[in-house]
Amino acid sequence: MKVGLFDSGVGGLSVLKKLITHFPGNTYVYFADTLRAPFGTKPDAAIISIVADAISFLESKHVDVIVAACNTADSLIKEYKLDTPVHYVGIIDRVPEMVRGKKVAVMATEATVRTGVYAKLLKGLEIYQKAAQLLVSAVESEPGSEKIINAIIKHYLLPIKRWKPDEIVLGCTHFPLVSKFISSFIPNARLIDPADGIVQKLSKMKHGKGKGMIEFYVSGDVGDFERKVRRFGIGKIMPMTFQKVKVEEGIAVEEDSGNIWAIRSG
Ligand code: DGL
Repeated sequence: MKVGLFDSGVGGLSVLKKLITHFPGNTYVYFADTLRAPFGTKPDAAIISIVADAISFLESKHVDVIVAACNTADSLIKEYKLDTPVHYVGIIDRVPEMVRGKKVAVMATEATVRTGVYAKLLKGLEIYQKAAQLLVSAVESEPGSEKIINAIIKHYLLPIKRWKPDEIVLGCTHFPLVSKFISSFIPNARLIDPADGIVQKLSKMKHGKGKGMIEFYVSGDVGDFERKVRRFGIGKIMPMTFQKVKVEEGIAVEEDSGNIWAIRSG
């Protein structure tokens, strides 16, 4: 089976790692739109256009299933009812079945918190939503940033720690990559990784039996992304290839004369 995934960067690797461990015989196509990262700070319209590009790119690669390895993308897909003819698996859907406690904190990006998707899904529970956008940038930074990561976690999670949650939903795929720092700051809260729901959903499908592989497509700096992938230990599990993808960002500037100038980069 050919599985397509997409994210703004390395966050989706936390999903990919679970999938290749459970289903090692598949071909994985991972699109990292690093040129337009982060997604979570952007307005809805910009994220929708990024998501639409990612979905049509994965469709062009003839994947059997598209996995949103990104909570921000999945929130917007749900909010605006975006569609694809390919079988689509979201990351958020199974979270209500994973929750056991009554007081649930949700750490996510600014855009995910804005949609309120988790609050809608977890109706009837006490929810504390926290946009922890800086943590996305810290996870994307070079190794040696542990001090910064800890400071950012403390900054965002101190009010949550005082609130004494039973559980914390890691509502951005970048966050499971630093879960050890989060649980050492709030050891009493159980951490929920929504990606476990994707594994459950995919376990009902027919998977490849041979040797799997991963094709990475990157819109930004390919070498930089490859270094990060190796740092997160993905390369030891199966062969992988890296390729540059060109995406176009359009900015229309209206001049006094009434002319529209399109500036394109990428
Ligand atoms: N990793 C993504 C998510 O799960 C996107 C983070 C970002 O680019 O802001 O929300």
